[in-house]
Amino acid sequence: MNSQASAPGKAILFGEHAVVYGVPAIAIPLSSIRARAYCKDTAHPLTVIAEDLPRPAVTIGAENFDRSDPLALTAALTMEHLNAWNLAGEIRIRSDIPIASGLGSGAAVSAALGRAIARMHNSDIPDCELSKIVFEVEKLHHGTPSGIDNTVVVHEKPVYFVKDEAIEFIRIVEPLHIILADTGIASLTRDAVADVRSLYEREPAHTAKQFDEIGAIANDARVCIETGAIARLGELMTANHHLLRSLYVSSAELDKLVDAALIGGALGAKMSGGGRGGNVIALVNDRSANCVKDALIKAGTKVLLETIAG
Ligand code: PMV
Repeated sequence: MNSQASAPGKAILFGEHAVVYGVPAIAIPLSSIRARAYCKDTAHPLTVIAEDLPRPAVTIGAENFDRSDPLALTAALTMEHLNAWNLAGEIRIRSDIPIASGLGSGAAVSAALGRAIARMHNSDIPDCELSKIVFEVEKLHHGTPSGIDNTVVVHEKPVYFVKDEAIEFIRIVEPLHIILADTGIASLTRDAVADVRSLYEREPAHTAKQFDEIGAIANDARVCIETGAIARLGELMTANHHLLRSLYVSSAELDKLVDAALIGGALGAKMSGGGRGGNVIALVNDRSANCVKDALIKAGTKVLLETIAG
């Protein structure tokens, strides 16, 4: 049976890095950029081809998969869950989510692949089970992921996320007009997370205080999102960016884009995701959107995306 499945990218609005230490974070799906998996019936064995990824093809059988490869691990865990080791066919992955730029590319590819394998088996995989599988694969990318990426990407809903607690979905009452500006610099979340860990070990009291401040911002932000207090939400984003800077996960390029967005009239702006490179997100209103986009392009943005959340 020929079929397809997909999953979206994501942006973290509040709380990245601190979320690893148990404070709340907020993320939204980016439904307009997606990873898609196209399935074709062919002869055994199951082959996954992902031309946009660094390791473009893997073949999966009951014994010959490599648990250190994200595609192979996703496929193996899904087949294990479905008890479907004798699947045959070809799955081709295409993704328009930039890699290593904080937009959830790895989680989206895993989620799309897991869903595609379930379809090939003529079954569905519940979101909560798929999220667990994607979380296992995220460990390869991130080392000690909080679980926010798999949660928002698999459920494709805005989430208020606290590690190891029940997922809470949030309702956006006033649509959020967001511009995403890519520095064009790929960076490994794993390295930024490890550096924050070292900072925490060196300066536990000070760093814990910064985490708590980020958590308080995320809690305020939730109220703003649920009541439509957009101007205040923007201020909270910028405050969150300053705290991320003080954790040393921003960069000159990210700071430059944040400043440009604010000078251009954004309500608020911050880096999003692991940092060091990747994307800045700016909250705008309809009046400021064009000025902010111009300012971001002039400041060196490589790719600009625009989304309305809610
Ligand atoms: O770089 P991304 O988009 O995968 O974001 C990671 C978010 C962190 O908080 C830095 C890590 C995590 O696991 O939550």
